[in-house]
Amino acid sequence: MGRTARCRCRLAPLAAVLLGGCSGEPGQSTLHPAGPAAAEIAWLWWVMFPAFTAVFLLVVVLLLGAIFRKSARPSAPGPLRGGEEGPAPPLGRTGFIVVGGIVLPVVVLTPLFLLSLNTSASLRQPQKSLTVRVVGHMWWWEVRYPEQGIVTANEVHVPAGRPVRLELTSADVIHSFWVPRLHGKRDMIPGLETEFWVQADEPGAYRGQCGEYCGTQHANMAFLVIALPPDEFDAWLAERTRPRPEPATAEERRGREVFLKAGCAPCHAVRGTPASGNVGPDLTHLGSRRTIGAGLRPNTRGELAGWVADSQALKPGARMPRSYLAGEDLLALVTYLEGLK
Ligand code: CUA
Repeated sequence: MGRTARCRCRLAPLAAVLLGGCSGEPGQSTLHPAGPAAAEIAWLWWVMFPAFTAVFLLVVVLLLGAIFRKSARPSAPGPLRGGEEGPAPPLGRTGFIVVGGIVLPVVVLTPLFLLSLNTSASLRQPQKSLTVRVVGHMWWWEVRYPEQGIVTANEVHVPAGRPVRLELTSADVIHSFWVPRLHGKRDMIPGLETEFWVQADEPGAYRGQCGEYCGTQHANMAFLVIALPPDEFDAWLAERTRPRPEPATAEERRGREVFLKAGCAPCHAVRGTPASGNVGPDLTHLGSRRTIGAGLRPNTRGELAGWVADSQALKPGARMPRSYLAGEDLLALVTYLEGLK
């Protein structure tokens, strides 16, 4: 293999990382805002990016100038000669310090400071809006609609085009609520209630991620903000406040028995059953969620069975222990859980 080919090989991973940011899918990109708060933040970023690039280039030019001016000087034999003067800069030494050290920073930083103050002011909480309470857990998200009495997990449904007030806190360690396309980060601190808000302009699913290291599975603590057209959102709310239907088939009834007897109920709640645990996510509508394990896997029958059987293989350290169910019981349980729409 030639030298060039080897070199290209080594550069490939670097190029992959750099170009990864240019892929068409916006995913969690703060530079593809989907709501008014994120748009303000992205706008400020686009102002600051060229300003700080110019400052950086100026510093590099001055640094290189200083290095080459010094090395161009004839080297003095013997002990170092103090007080040797190079050519004076164009403004004179004092002028250079005043302009470069005081005037320039004030001229550059003052407008940027004022702009960031303006952005902070425009991110203020909107007045009256729907309230959703989100509690961070190691490593999942409890989601409550206090006015409607709805409890769910790892998915925050909101009406598109409307601000939603968030009450944030944590049940254990510090987490951080972060949906890059909708707003900045807000820490969730145990014992402290924090207010925040999000708004998505268009219907869609916006991925969020815990933004504060919180232990082994921090990286797998994801969630979705699902923005629905307002009428669909109202239907979603109404659907979730209706009483749960009884399991329809014998298989589902068997699954419910397994759920209640095999040790799931002390940790998980299913409304309308004796199961009311709050250690793990509420499963009342598990079947309608898009993912399991806090954004870890798609919510399919196979993935769900794998998760129940051996969650530790998929998410080591998660609070959910392995289950040791007989195959038939496991399948019945998964049928029941899938039916919880
Ligand atoms: Cu929760 Cu990181």
